[in-house]
Amino acid sequence: MDEIYKRRSIRSFKDEIVEDKDIEAIIKAGMNAPSAKNNEPWQFIVVKDKDTLFHLSTIKLYGKMLKEAACAIVLVAKPKMIFWQQDMAACCENMLLEATHLDLGSCWCGVKPLEREEERLRDFFSVPDDYYIFGLVALGYADEEKDYNNKFDKSLIHYETW
Ligand SMILES: Cc1cc2nc3c(=O)[nH]c(=O)nc-3n(C[C@H](O)[C@H](O)[C@H](O)COP(=O)(O)O)c2cc1C
Repeated sequence: MDEIYKRRSIRSFKDEIVEDKDIEAIIKAGMNAPSAKNNEPWQFIVVKDKDTLFHLSTIKLYGKMLKEAACAIVLVAKPKMIFWQQDMAACCENMLLEATHLDLGSCWCGVKPLEREEERLRDFFSVPDDYYIFGLVALGYADEEKDYNNKFDKSLIHYETW
């Protein structure tokens, strides 16, 4: 699948909006990820407000690209079982691949388990205590060119046993 290799972390965005239908398609892709026992622990906060995006860029270490992004999607989880972080990671990757499919640039910004960042985001968005903030996805039209990923390494594969 082309999108797997084409997807790169984009940290520079054009001053162009992302259409709501594309944002919804990206979230729909996330909602169709596999999850343990089909728990689907995810919820999403869509941020397009420029002041909020700037504020997010000041909270999130290595999140400076957020101030240029057209949109950020905050991935929030209500964990019902121990595999919730894997569920959220699958959801997040689906979102990045759909964004790539739509010719949008994206960057996964991890939050959990950075407690201080999570608490600042929780306060800012008024997220209830029993929900966790897994991470954010910055979205927009890329203002940088990146090569396709090409990371295949045969030496990492073991057959039948280590
Ligand atoms: C769990 C996780 C957290 C990440 N957090 C950040 C982040 O806070 N800021 C950032 O610029 N990139 C972040 N990234 C993106 C990685 O730096 C990036 O995926 C990696 O360097 C490989 O580059 P590529 O995505 O272009 O293939 C994160 C990726 C993952 C999977």
